[in-house]
Amino acid sequence: KKVVLAYSGGVDTSVCIPYLKQEWGVEEIITLAADLGQGDELEPIRAKALKSGASESLVMDVKDTFIKDYAFGAIQANALYENRYPLGTALARPLIAKILVEVAEKYGADAIAHGCTGKGNDQVRFDVSTAALKPDLKILAPAREWGMSREETIAYGERFGIPAPVKKSSPYSIDKNLLGRSIEAGVLEDPAMEPPEEIYEMTKAIADTPNEPEYIEIGFVRGIPTTINGEPKNPVELIETLNTTAGNHGIGRIDMIENRLVGIKSREIYESPAMIVLINAHRDLESLTLTADVTQYKRGIEQTYTQIVYNGLWYSPLKAALDAFIQKTQERVSGTVRLKLFKGNATIVGRRSENTLYTPDLATYGAEDQFDHKAAEGFIYVWGLPTRVWSQTGQ
Ligand code: ARG
Ligand code: SIN
Repeated sequence: KKVVLAYSGGVDTSVCIPYLKQEWGVEEIITLAADLGQGDELEPIRAKALKSGASESLVMDVKDTFIKDYAFGAIQANALYENRYPLGTALARPLIAKILVEVAEKYGADAIAHGCTGKGNDQVRFDVSTAALKPDLKILAPAREWGMSREETIAYGERFGIPAPVKKSSPYSIDKNLLGRSIEAGVLEDPAMEPPEEIYEMTKAIADTPNEPEYIEIGFVRGIPTTINGEPKNPVELIETLNTTAGNHGIGRIDMIENRLVGIKSREIYESPAMIVLINAHRDLESLTLTADVTQYKRGIEQTYTQIVYNGLWYSPLKAALDAFIQKTQERVSGTVRLKLFKGNATIVGRRSENTLYTPDLATYGAEDQFDHKAAEGFIYVWGLPTRVWSQTGQ
């Protein structure tokens, strides 16, 4: 039996290698590490998989696809789960599942495998994505079944030459990529306790951020960010630049109690500077370029989009249908948004678009006013008619 394993270099996925061979009789394991811009050194990860018993160890750079085909759609959808979490982890899973399936096909593997536990969202995202892409491919999730505590997992690994994590004292579960970091566990499990500063990597503490505001201008074309301060940026560069710039001002920290699909509430810390800035800027540009009814109707679509992406339904027919709606709305969402970055806030201070629906002659209170004030009277008569009738009838 041949298996392609999603591999991160961490304890759980490393222990999956000897475990699958020893306990489940898998003969050949091909590991696949996706480079999503997590900033880890990939060569040691590649080597570690081989040392742990993989027969082949693949690393694939999918950063560009990740941003273009996964993150940008979420920005156009203004996707914030429970109004706060920009889905950094949730967006990565369907892409990892896609390349797992591709590699499984190429190598003629019988199954794919991942190291997710049975309590999380990630297992759902991997399994449902895989089922959508290749319905008959088997999925192995040893960590869902082995019932070992973290200590036992580490001890099991050590028996097969997998070194314990360097920082035994780092009790956090961290997932990171270009879209941000998701941090759980350890002292964070007490929702009343303030997160220790040590967990953050991409964002500065407010006390350490610059004392002067920094202005930036983000340019969008059809809802997709393309420039920063007038300079064209490729998708990965754009995200990296914003992570650095906004992170430097302490922007993008989120501390929330989140409802997982599996019914558990969990305490989650995120840092996601670029996504927070981009979604805020994008939503603002929509307010200038979309009609009132499209804007308002789209809010409902966005809620559903966010929910289904969080819940692992990236490759579902509903997602495809919502995408079609969202794409249609983005045709005129082009222009620039100016933001002031300062002490943890990205405040929008200006926006411009050649498709602006803002009409100064209609909006002004000055002498240039073109709005027909007299027309308001008849409009209000008709608008208020049902309410008037209701009131009269009730008396
Ligand atoms: N709760 C977040 C989500 O569902 C973050 C999950 C983090 N995953 C992890 N393997 N540490 O997207
Ligand atoms: C996991 O259990 O694999 C991490 C948490 C999550 O998926 O939400």
